[in-house]
Amino acid sequence: MSSQALENIEESTWRKLKDNAQSAYHKAYAPYSNFRVGAAALTSENKIVQGCNVENASYGLTVCAERNCIAQGVIGNENAQAVEFSALVIYTEQEKLTPPCGACRQVISEFFQKNATVMAVNHLSQQQQWTVEQLLPDAFMPYDLIHKT
Ligand code: THU
Repeated sequence: MSSQALENIEESTWRKLKDNAQSAYHKAYAPYSNFRVGAAALTSENKIVQGCNVENASYGLTVCAERNCIAQGVIGNENAQAVEFSALVIYTEQEKLTPPCGACRQVISEFFQKNATVMAVNHLSQQQQWTVEQLLPDAFMPYDLIHKT
């Protein structure tokens, strides 16, 4: 399976990812925090999938945009064991760009290559990017389960 680093993803694809993250943002269900988040990810099959945050009156059941986006990619793939993503864009309308939360960093680590790019963007066209490894160094991985004693 190919892992695409930042420089291998064309500018037009980044544009599409940003547009998809922005349109997902407008679908967010965030009546409690009023903090909307949209996400879009590129799958290894070059498909773009979207996610938004979905809150709940039982606040702790809220699911972030990033994790809903990954779930969308899993559902759309023929073989769930082979799902892999090469880039993720997170869109908010905040001046302070929105990095993924800790729970999302763990889930991202499961499905993205360590050198894949995660990019936060906003309505002012500002952006910041990290590799998955930078977001969660030494993540707990499937490999760690295999090597249990
Ligand atoms: N949220 C996300 O969707 N992604 C993040 O990376 C940060 C937080 C959501 C969860 C909740 O609905 C709202 O933002 C405020 O925490």
